[in-house]
Amino acid sequence: MAEVDAPQDPQLVDNALYRERMRRALAGKAPPRSSPLGAVARSRVSDTDDRDEIVARIKAEDEALVAGSFGTVYYRPVTVSGIDLKLEPLLPSIGTVIHGIDLATDLEDPEVVRFLRELWLDRRVVVFRGQMHLTREQMVEFAERFGEVGAPFGEREHMPNSPFDLNQQIKVPDIPDMLVLPSDETVPNAASGWHADATWQPKPPMASILMCREAPPVGGDTCFCDCIGMWESLSRETKEKVRFLKAVHAGTVGHQMNGITPVAIHPVARTHPETGRTSLYVQQGFVKRFAPEHGIDPEEERALLHEMKLKEGRPEYTCRVRWEPGSLAMWDNRVVLHSASGDFWPHRRLMERLTILDAEQTRRAPYYRPHDGASS
Ligand SMILES: [Fe+2]
Repeated sequence: MAEVDAPQDPQLVDNALYRERMRRALAGKAPPRSSPLGAVARSRVSDTDDRDEIVARIKAEDEALVAGSFGTVYYRPVTVSGIDLKLEPLLPSIGTVIHGIDLATDLEDPEVVRFLRELWLDRRVVVFRGQMHLTREQMVEFAERFGEVGAPFGEREHMPNSPFDLNQQIKVPDIPDMLVLPSDETVPNAASGWHADATWQPKPPMASILMCREAPPVGGDTCFCDCIGMWESLSRETKEKVRFLKAVHAGTVGHQMNGITPVAIHPVARTHPETGRTSLYVQQGFVKRFAPEHGIDPEEERALLHEMKLKEGRPEYTCRVRWEPGSLAMWDNRVVLHSASGDFWPHRRLMERLTILDAEQTRRAPYYRPHDGASS
């Protein structure tokens, strides 16, 4: 019988779906080629199908990796309330790694929080390194500096209770709002695929934060795509066609509550409630069709959705965050898509997630007001 690691989340041992998936591993089969984990593993080791051999060879290769740094990093030095920060841009338009801050102690000063919020709005994704010492309670305190901590999927009206998902259970009884997200071959839903969190809710979360507790030595990155860049790159003709349309966002079977799949209708062009910028609020993950009221011809609907979804992940406006234990990222879920990279088997990844709702209730539901922002 094949060697299989115990699940990262002890609760999974009794989960029927987990056990069913585990049978494949116990039977000595590597993840299927049709999954990203399996495809990457076969790309690395192509001359055998033997699970144990693939695992051994990948692990042996990765064991040779050592942690270190070299080369030049460009950053902007800035002092905020006496704290010297180094701001390292990941891409010209999106993503900044903020060095030099301790999230457990440095946010008492409202000036620091104000600075971080401005920077986050401007850069959409901010990343902090070396925060492993942050307890889960301190993660909640950090999140509360920016808004109201949401339920695992944002608004509390919809709490999934589907048996078809391995990540929905409450893992931290004292902090039921926290999702603990293990990822391995039997829990492969490391959110690999473009989406914004819980857009199938009428009022999706404003922000999400993700803390990495366990990271593979290589792989498992999360990519973040700027939806303002997506909107800007549409042709003038397409913008005019879709500008006032609405789209149907449907959750997956794993998001069901009492057997019902959640559905919400949101504008295709979204105005950012704080910056006024226009973004494309369409993604592969949850957007299925345009709102029926538009009566759009199915052929044209398919072509338009395809054209918009092709904008996802363009390297010019998609940054890639490399995780280390203790890395924490916070993204603006209103203007950013994200996708994990399912390339790390036979290693594993363990993340903790919180959602943040806008403290301003009237800004929670997505809307489009074409004259709010400079970009159109
Ligand atoms: Fe996500």
